[in-house]
Amino acid sequence: MAAEGGEEPAGAAPAAETGGLWEAFCAELQSPANILLICACLYIVYKLWVRQREERAPPPPAEPQLPPLKRQDFTLEQLKVYDGTEQCDGRVLVAVNYKVFDVTRGKRFYGPGGPYAAFAGKDASRGLATFSVEGVDDRFDDLSDLTPMQMESVREWEAQFTDRYVYVGKLLKPGERPSEYTDDEEASGTADSPRPDQPSGDKKTD
Ligand code: HEM
Repeated sequence: MAAEGGEEPAGAAPAAETGGLWEAFCAELQSPANILLICACLYIVYKLWVRQREERAPPPPAEPQLPPLKRQDFTLEQLKVYDGTEQCDGRVLVAVNYKVFDVTRGKRFYGPGGPYAAFAGKDASRGLATFSVEGVDDRFDDLSDLTPMQMESVREWEAQFTDRYVYVGKLLKPGERPSEYTDDEEASGTADSPRPDQPSGDKKTD
């Protein structure tokens, strides 16, 4: 008599419990806080997945290395060609304090579209001293109106370029004749080597 209408057959109780748990779980999922939490978890998993994919992607092909330039001096007109475009095989030269550097390694700064592209193939001294990329023009600049502080800044930039890039030769003043370089000088690639027309005592000491 006791089983009539109420007692469940043996084994039915766990099934009912599971159903109850599932319903409780579904009800929990509908609370706004939990929905937010789930979205946050999914977002983090997605971000991790994207990052993993990026790490596995092959690196972009490196730009072909250009052969080092022969040691040589440049007029402004000759320097102008080296602006990182196809006309010069993508090479970029920049002059600082009458020294020409091959900055192709820093093409992301000085190449076409870079933040300092205005300096490519130019004398950047005045721009660096005045902290401006505007107003770099094609005329020879003797920098004579710069203040002592600005000239000091030019020399500091020159030192930075000497550390980072390969020195190629001098920027010639109007009418100045280019130097003849020996093979040894061509190979040295530093701005500190004494030059035929510059006594070694004339070197910057910073
Ligand atoms: C809001 C203004 C500027 C910011 C935030 C900025 C930022 C930077 C940063 C982060 C670097 C180092 C990049 C690296 O080594 O990876 C850098 C380098 C440099 N910046 Fe700027 N810059 C600013 C303005 C200027 C201006 C106005 C000039 C122009 C005179 C300038 C000239 C340079 C040069 C020449 C380098 C060295 C690039 C090289 O390594 O060859 N910057 N700048």
